[in-house]
Amino acid sequence: MVSYKDLGLVNTREMFAKAVAGGYAIPAFNFNNMEQLQAIIQAAAETKSPVILQVSSGARKYANQTLLRYMAEGAVEYAKELGWEHPQICLHLDHGNSFELCKSCVDMGFSSVMIDASSLPYEENIALTKQVVDYAHKYDVTVEAELGVLAGVEDEVSAEESHYTRPEEVIDFATRSGCDSLAISIGTSHGAYKFKPEQCKRDPETGRLVPPPLAFDVLHEIEKKLPGFPIVLHGSSSVPQEYVDIINAHGGKLPDAVGIPEEQLREASKSAVCKINIDSDSRLAMTAAIRLVFDEKPGEFDPRKYLGPARDEMKKLYMHKIINVLGSNGKAE
Ligand code: G3H
Ligand code: 13P
Ligand code: ZN
Repeated sequence: MVSYKDLGLVNTREMFAKAVAGGYAIPAFNFNNMEQLQAIIQAAAETKSPVILQVSSGARKYANQTLLRYMAEGAVEYAKELGWEHPQICLHLDHGNSFELCKSCVDMGFSSVMIDASSLPYEENIALTKQVVDYAHKYDVTVEAELGVLAGVEDEVSAEESHYTRPEEVIDFATRSGCDSLAISIGTSHGAYKFKPEQCKRDPETGRLVPPPLAFDVLHEIEKKLPGFPIVLHGSSSVPQEYVDIINAHGGKLPDAVGIPEEQLREASKSAVCKINIDSDSRLAMTAAIRLVFDEKPGEFDPRKYLGPARDEMKKLYMHKIINVLGSNGKAE
């Protein structure tokens, strides 16, 4: 049993309480490799932003869970080395799908876990979430749950099958499950293709897709039912069109990739939404930078010469999200 407290990590309780009260959101960035982690920590340290490092089960398979955990532990020391005296870094399991997986993460030093039982019937979602909460809270590890279904590539469901969180269920769900934060469905979705062209309008000038707005009415209803309760948005990449253009101009093929407009995330950050999950945008930044090097310097074969620019581009993206979208800069001085 390893306690996250011995690793210098923090859980989400205090960071969420401050974010809800302060009208900003904490960035939750997924990582799978060293360059992503370096970029996240550099961006958080430079902006003094609390940050959540997320590990998905896919990341655990790809990089090895032990290695990722030690990388997060190293990240705390790296942050200090960069001059961030009191780093507020949370290590979080993203989309945990079983009690055993959540327990294993609690036992190996994660400070927060998500149990995503949103695809189960309502009562089963509560029961499994409660089982994880009962275990995690013994070790002061915080638990995120999910109610409602997000559409998207990772969920293997089509957009039509997405259904918004029902505000009338949230009090009962939060009370009986004991979760510390709740991921809701208000129209975000995972991946770089969040909406089908037929769900969008097309800007006549640019030819780009304009996605339908998020369901802020549902969010506000939920906030009224659970005042001050931490709300989480998954699937919140904006799919920056400049990256899509670079990728497409240098041998890639991402037709009609579209995300959540940043103004809407900015608006959400001012509400009880206190954690915003971003993964795809970092993948796009990395891919765009690497494609550019490969196209412009075909003789280059030193990985540092393309992973370095990719890391710089991701850092730029993370800083932009922190400062201009979520407003979490300066909140962990
Ligand atoms: O919500 C899913 C995250 O973007 C993680 O994706 O399962 O491909 O690692 P992944
Ligand atoms: P994006 O695919 O929009 O980046 O969402 C990531 C996410 O929700 C991770 O849990
Ligand atoms: Zn997610």
